[in-house]
Formats: sequence, structure tokens, C-alpha cells
Amino acid sequence: MECSPGTRAAGRVELTRGKDKMRHRLRAGPSEVPDESSLEPVSSGGSLQKQKPAGSPAPPPLAYYEYPSLPITKNRKELISLIENHSVVIIRGATGSGKTTQLPQYILDHYNAKNASCNMVVTQPRKIGATSVARWVATQRKCTLGSLVGYQVGLEKMATEHTRLIYMTTGVLLQKLVSTKCLTEYSHIFVDEVHERTEEMDFLLLILKKLLHSNSRYVKIILMSATINCRQFAEYFGHPDSWQDEPCLCV
Ligand SMILES: Nc1ncnc2c1ncn2[C@@H]1O[C@H](COP(=O)(O)OP(=O)(O)O)[C@@H](O)[C@H]1O
Ligand SMILES: [Mg+2]
Repeated sequence: MECSPGTRAAGRVELTRGKDKMRHRLRAGPSEVPDESSLEPVSSGGSLQKQKPAGSPAPPPLAYYEYPSLPITKNRKELISLIENHSVVIIRGATGSGKTTQLPQYILDHYNAKNASCNMVVTQPRKIGATSVARWVATQRKCTLGSLVGYQVGLEKMATEHTRLIYMTTGVLLQKLVSTKCLTEYSHIFVDEVHERTEEMDFLLLILKKLLHSNSRYVKIILMSATINCRQFAEYFGHPDSWQDEPCLCV
């Protein structure tokens, strides 16, 4: 179901304080921004695949997993298809519908089924949210926390080279992207609780849009919230060369 449109002008996402400062930091010259020609879409299993260091044991197989029945379950195929076919997807769903815990797993299993590599990050505004949700997902999948599923909050990291789904605070991801100036470490970036318009969130949206439209075109961005103004974010991420806004789905 598409969310109702608002006016384009009213729908602009306002990026508040410090915007110019952040833009300055992001205005990287050619030597600082990796060349896009060296990047490949994740489905090719190319540059996004994590390198296995010599002598490292083989990655553990993905745990067998049966999805719990939650409101999001009925939209699983539609969500996978939307994410496969668009750079940015906006998802609104009531609290408890399964956005944070289930949707990344749908993508994880979809990529596993087609033998492709993925490396997903899901942001949470607070440390406690990131750690508890990672612990919950690892428990659900019966895998050790820090193996397939992990987290990084502040200086604390529970993840390995085999981690394919990492929960992280908004601030940690922002710091990483400011330093790498590129999104291609990840195949999918889920920005959760995107309605929480903190300074960190605004900067993260700014950097995601800038890099997605420059050197990280193949990375998928998924914005999620229970109370998001979908149209506003769809217009913000709409590609500058087209009048088409990004798709929104309510689950
Ligand atoms: N840390 C947790 N501990 C126990 N149950 C949880 C936890 N996180 C999620 N759940 C369960 O998973 C369901 C889906 O949660 P979640 O994916 O966080 O929904 P949403 O992100 O849409 O609010 C919840 O209704 C709850 O039953
Ligand atoms: Mg959630």
C-alpha cells in the first residue's frame, strides 16, 4: 500500500545544524573517493564479499531458521522484491510487527538461497536496542552472538569476519561512513527508527544520500519506522535526475 502523497515543498527532509560542516567533510576529492568503476553489485559476489584471511576456518553454514508469524510475514516476498529492485525502500509498520528482527533475516536467507554474498548493517538509535536485538536474533537463529549475527556499540564489538548481519548504533555507522566515504562495505543498510530526528540521524541521512548518488550506487538502503512520514523521506532520497520518488510500503 502506497502512503498518501504530500506537497513536494512541504515534504523536504530538513537537515538541521551542522549540515554545512558535514558537507565540507564529505566533499572528497577524486583521490579520497574510491572509483565507482571498481565496484560491483553484491549479487555478482564481487568486491562486496568479505575476504577470508589465509588459514581462517570456513564460515559456518547459515542456521536453519523458521520465521515466526508476525504482521510483516505476509509481506516477505513483496519486501524482498522491492529491496531487490530499488536503491531505497521506505517501510512503515507498527511496533512489534517484525521490521527490526525479521526483515534483515529475510534478506539474509534470500541471498543465501541464491548463493550470493551479503553484508548487512541495521542501525539502532540506542546501544541497548542494538545489543538486545542482536542477542534476540542470534538466539532465534540458534547461533552464537558474534558469529552470523553481531553488534557494535561504542567501542564494544561482538562480530567476526563471518558476521553477515550486524546491529549498530546510528552514531557508530555515521563515524564509519565519515571515515570511509563509501558505503560499499555493506550490501544493505537498514536505518531503523528513522523518525528519531537527532543530529546523528540527520547527518547519517545526508551522508547516505550523498554517497548513494556518487560512489556507492549498488548499496541498498532501507528506512524503517513505526511513525515515519514516508512521502517526506521518499522525496528526499528521490534521484535528482528523475522525478520518481522511492517506494514506500506499510506492513
Ligand atoms: N529483545 C527482544 N526480546 C524478546 N522479544 C523480542 C525482542 N525483540 C523483538 N522481540 C519479539 O519480536 C517481535 C518483533 O519485534 P521487532 O522486529 O523488534 O518489531 P519492530 O521492529 O517492527 O518493532 C516482537 O513483537 C517481540 O515479540
Ligand atoms: Mg524495531
